[in-house]
Amino acid sequence: MTSEPTSLENPPAGDQRKILVTAALPYANGHIHLGHLVEYIQTDIWVRFQKLRGHRCIYLCADDTHGTAIMIRARQEGRSEEALIADMRRAHVRDFEQFSVHFDNFGSTNSPENRALCNEFWARLRAAGLISEQEVTQLYDPVAGTFLADRFVKGTCPNCGSTDQYGDSCDKCGAAYSPTELKNPKSTLSGATPELRNAKHLFVHVEQLHEFLNDWTQSGDHLQKEVANYLAGHFLGEPLRDWDISRPAPYFGFEIPDSPGNYWYVWFDAPIGYIASTAEWCQREGELLDRWWRGADVEIHHFIGKDITYFHTLFWPAMLKTAAFRLPRKIHVHGFLTVDGEKMSKSKGTFILASTYLNHLHPAYLRYYYASKLGPGLDDLDLNREEFVAKVNSDLVGKVVNLASRTAKFVQDTGLSPTYPDDGGLFSQAAAEGEAIAAAYEACDFNRAMRLIMTLADRANQFVDSEAPWKLRDSIDRAVELQSTCTIALNLFRQLVIYLSPVLPSLQQQTDELLGHLISHWDDAQEPLVRVAINPFTHMMKRVEAAQVAAMIAESREEPAMTEPAVPVPGTTAAPPVSTMPSGPADSGAPLENEPLVGETIGIDDFTKVDLRVARVVASEEVPKAKKLLKLTLSLGGDERRTVFAGIKTAYEPAQLVGRLVICVANLAPRQMTFGVSEGMVVAAGAGGTEIYLLSPDSGAQPGQRVH
Ligand code: MSP
Ligand code: ZN
Repeated sequence: MTSEPTSLENPPAGDQRKILVTAALPYANGHIHLGHLVEYIQTDIWVRFQKLRGHRCIYLCADDTHGTAIMIRARQEGRSEEALIADMRRAHVRDFEQFSVHFDNFGSTNSPENRALCNEFWARLRAAGLISEQEVTQLYDPVAGTFLADRFVKGTCPNCGSTDQYGDSCDKCGAAYSPTELKNPKSTLSGATPELRNAKHLFVHVEQLHEFLNDWTQSGDHLQKEVANYLAGHFLGEPLRDWDISRPAPYFGFEIPDSPGNYWYVWFDAPIGYIASTAEWCQREGELLDRWWRGADVEIHHFIGKDITYFHTLFWPAMLKTAAFRLPRKIHVHGFLTVDGEKMSKSKGTFILASTYLNHLHPAYLRYYYASKLGPGLDDLDLNREEFVAKVNSDLVGKVVNLASRTAKFVQDTGLSPTYPDDGGLFSQAAAEGEAIAAAYEACDFNRAMRLIMTLADRANQFVDSEAPWKLRDSIDRAVELQSTCTIALNLFRQLVIYLSPVLPSLQQQTDELLGHLISHWDDAQEPLVRVAINPFTHMMKRVEAAQVAAMIAESREEPAMTEPAVPVPGTTAAPPVSTMPSGPADSGAPLENEPLVGETIGIDDFTKVDLRVARVVASEEVPKAKKLLKLTLSLGGDERRTVFAGIKTAYEPAQLVGRLVICVANLAPRQMTFGVSEGMVVAAGAGGTEIYLLSPDSGAQPGQRVH
């Protein structure tokens, strides 16, 4: 699949372009994984390429911080959304840095700049008469106190009767439906049965921009052919539906200034985050935002995954148009990552986080592998373990780095020859290939660029093989020949490194150090280096071992919900362990004392008798007449549920607990209490009354995991 040729593919030499590039803003409710990295690396390569060609190019991104999912996750973790997004931001920034993904600015959609820009867009949409109010009926979770997005509702498919299906579609029979049609619906937040509630929402009447969108998307200039066809086939053939752009409280986002109690839907403020991030960069660099987002000489390029095509190719251009911002020059859509031919899966260990990858493998391997797989189209790309190992070892280590490691040591003392020796035309051929390689990068056909570069590497290696410099080293009278051979080999190596440097900035840096010359422009590949001293050769890149990849997969494999069965041990007459919260009997209400630090010592065997588990509170109710008790329903992973009466009502509101993780004594013998049977206890610290502090694990722990 190739993209439509455009006037951009061979931009006039010498003309410095102004290019503003974005990658989609990662959600702040999860860590960066290898799927995300397809996009951030693809975009980073393209940006580095543009910079190396001498263009003015900036790469902007930000965390996408708003929405229900983040609100819920913060609740589950018992902290504010701001604390959650601040932590996640640190993790994202660190992951990107480690993979050499360099943003000129990494912002946040929860910023004052973004709020101001949202206001500006909003005022323009209002002024254009595009906003209307409509009543929406939606499922509402009465326990969690929030409206439910489709994926927070599960139930039985109205079409085929399969259980455990999401609110919008069935993955057994493929039927699409509205969550109100789902049978026996349950909120995944609390387990409660959702109710129907009405609320006023604000809508954008995008149909008013139909003609503009038709022209813009179908011009052949801004979108890949298959994207344009998809839009024509699925959306543009009929009137565009109004776009629901607001959500009622509670919602983590920006409140709409002229509609109190309503918030902009996350997909309204997220793309505006591209501009807000640019604004931060402009403030730092003393640039004018309007020059970059309204200037006629700027090319705006968005890189996105195919799952978010709709937002970027219809709503976003409509919003930009209405608010008189510059429209994207091009939206580059890429496919999805699969691992060993399948969707990434937590249970198979192929849902690999960026940070897990880094525990085992060098980031340059992944950058190269992705480059070798990425084309200009929307095809999914597969991370195949064997191919990954083979490619890295044969191309990077075997063909590229090997050129330097086989020759640099022989010119350590002499440096490179005073004039460039006769190499039979190898250097000039490779220099002439520069424009073809550049055109492939420009068109996002990185796979082709890598193939062209590896063909040059093959030729360089044939040269070194035939000259065999290691055979020349011992004869004094062949010293000049040895120097010439190595001068040629190292120059061919450097040329390859220049062409590869958008992909492998770390290799470029190592090469700069070895040769004491900075690669700063694509055209550095046109002139050989001569008469330069060579710094001591240090190891550049190791071979990958299949075992490293296997170890990464093993580390990524998520334990099944229960690692060991949590069966109540019969006959345990559980004396409550030190510092755990009594869940009965009845509502005795004896306050907890601060225990002396060292009490009676026990053996490890006594400790391991207590089966402590991570559990999630799925429901929490008051117990009528009990002053101190809450009735908790805990999930211990999978279908394992426990009812626990906990004496924590004086310190916690029932709704506040739903979704959070606690530590539960799972093998406490069930006890009959006045209000029902208690099947365990949750542990907490504190003196009682309002000073009760439930224990919870760090984020990442899963219900059912044993506490050791
Ligand atoms: N927050 C939105 C984007 C808002 S842009 C104004 C979002 N975030 S995301 O974290 O889910 O995804 C970020 C980008 O990574 C998206 O472009 C998405 O397509 C891409 N990918 C996420 N998983 C991916 C794969 N498994 N494979 C390839 N790209 C993937 O969407
Ligand atoms: Zn079905």
